[in-house]
Amino acid sequence: MGLLDGKVAIVTGAGRGIGRGEALELAAQGASVVVGEVDGEAGQAVADEITAAGGAAVVALGDCSEVENAQAIVRTAVEEFGRLDALVNNAGILRDRTLAKMTPEEWDAVIKVHLRGHYAPTHVAINHWRELGQPGRVVCTASTSGILGNFGQSNYGAAKAGIAAFAQIVAQESWKHGITVNAICPAARTRMTEGAYGSIETTDEGFDFWHPDNVAPFVAFLCSDASAHISGKVFGVQGDTVELYRPFASEAVIENGGSRWDPAVFADRVGSLFEQTGISPAAENGMKKLRYTMTNRTG
Ligand SMILES: NC(=O)c1ccc[n+]([C@@H]2O[C@H](COP(=O)([O-])OP(=O)(O)OC[C@H]3O[C@@H](n4cnc5c(N)ncnc54)[C@H](O)[C@@H]3O)[C@@H](O)[C@H]2O)c1
Repeated sequence: MGLLDGKVAIVTGAGRGIGRGEALELAAQGASVVVGEVDGEAGQAVADEITAAGGAAVVALGDCSEVENAQAIVRTAVEEFGRLDALVNNAGILRDRTLAKMTPEEWDAVIKVHLRGHYAPTHVAINHWRELGQPGRVVCTASTSGILGNFGQSNYGAAKAGIAAFAQIVAQESWKHGITVNAICPAARTRMTEGAYGSIETTDEGFDFWHPDNVAPFVAFLCSDASAHISGKVFGVQGDTVELYRPFASEAVIENGGSRWDPAVFADRVGSLFEQTGISPAAENGMKKLRYTMTNRTG
């Protein structure tokens, strides 16, 4: 018995990295899988791997940020496997550069693949479930780069913070329809992070903490009936750890006795916000708040 016996799931960007691991795990748990990919060869290799292991999978080729491709991906699930139960929005790209040097093309490409790449398949899947009165599961892929802020990734971080907000908002809109929407911030050794972090050392023995397949078991849980009570949440997932993030929350307040502020008084008053909280007023590297980093834990 698998956690997802009889279910049908879509994973976008499932041809390699974290998405490949998710597709394999969902199939191992009994789901039939639609492998969404722009890279047909990589997508087909994953579908072949699943079918060779006795599972069911097909490729839906195309950029998932285009609505017509998103419609085709959902249609593929229904035509090939008769239904849709879960959507894992995983496809992503990087175009890292400091903002001063970033081109409009680098900005737009990242915003489109991540934000429209979440909007389009989720929009189509949610309407499909609502028309049928059927529950559904959506797993979004955010990043600590957006939640905490990473140097050189203003485009990617803005998109990923947007995805965390997207999950929280679409979760509220979908709750009464039995559709859950959660986001993960994964971390793993993939083609994407080799570009960002350089090659990552690994050990031959023991548990490989940064293996991309480590992200998949929690995603399988979020795609299952067992997670029906969890929605609009943002989780960190890496190695053998699952973290729960608290969304932006107000930490301190100053008030002006019931009248509009004079901007000149802030120079004296605003410091209280930082004193109350211990938060530094200067720009900070939020990634230093990570519990686990690829540079301090390798293997
Ligand atoms: N690897 C990490 O540590 C890490 C950290 C935080 C977030 N993420 C996120 O996890 C997801 C997977 O990342 P990864 O590290 O496995 O990357 P990867 O580059 O190894 O794999 C991404 C896959 O997505 C596909 N893809 C890209 N654009 C697409 C599109 N428009 N439509 C369909 N497929 C598309 C690519 O062809 C590729 O196969 C991404 O959203 C990424 O931003 C990864």
